[in-house]
Amino acid sequence: MFSEKLLEKFQENPVVVVLTGAGISAESGVPTFRGEDGLWKKFKPEELANFDAFIRNPEIVWEWYRYRQEIVRNIEPNPGHYALAELERMFPDFYLITQNVDGLHFRAGSQNPIELHGNIMRNRCLQCNKYFMEVDLQKEPVIPKCTECGGILRPDVVWFGEQLPQQALINAEKAINEANIFFSVGTSALVQPAASMPFWAKSSGAYLVEINIMETLLTPYVDEYLSGKSGEILPELIKQIKKT
Ligand code: OAD
Repeated sequence: MFSEKLLEKFQENPVVVVLTGAGISAESGVPTFRGEDGLWKKFKPEELANFDAFIRNPEIVWEWYRYRQEIVRNIEPNPGHYALAELERMFPDFYLITQNVDGLHFRAGSQNPIELHGNIMRNRCLQCNKYFMEVDLQKEPVIPKCTECGGILRPDVVWFGEQLPQQALINAEKAINEANIFFSVGTSALVQPAASMPFWAKSSGAYLVEINIMETLLTPYVDEYLSGKSGEILPELIKQIKKT
């Protein structure tokens, strides 16, 4: 399944960078965004995932986030998340960048995932910026309020039209510049700037590998395409690296 070239690269103390998307959490039961059962088939992103929509109708946006927080609270990381946490323990120069907001990488033991799109279990006050975790929110009212200043809370995720957290982007760029091996795992490679990251890595000399159940716009440009579920391929990769 894996080329000799890839397995050899792992023997050379490489800087390994992994970018993950919704596909890595699919096997945990988190719906992806695109595709047949994707969230954006049933819901319109422009009505739910942008600041104007939130100001117009915070109740609907909060119902949608409460629903997704509920999903995330009741699921567990899968073998793909655990394999990445193990890869991090095996290689001192390992960086994990994720577009996911579900926090499953943390829960699987990854120490410092770079969360490009925030974290759905964290919320912040629009007025005073105080942070609240999901577990601290009351069920009612649907729109939670800040216990310090009474301001409205919002989920601490990046919505369409918003800037990515600056430090996350800086950390991601730094890791990518140094990458010897770059993996794009379970992402449709459509949303910027994450979609450009594999290209940045490749242009700075990284060996580019994609893991996905379907080909994407990135596939023609990768050095190696591994077709299948990340929860199966990543644990197998670890086995093979250990063997060699
Ligand atoms: P998408 O839903 O666009 O893509 C998920 C990808 O995972 C697809 O390419 C699937 O083929 C693949 N996939 C599904 N199951 C898989 C599995 N078991 N193993 C491997 N691959 C699998 O999700 P993202 O690319 O993460 O942003 O979407 C990017 C961003 O768009 C999200 O972070 C979100 C969304 O709008 C914001 O909300 C800001």
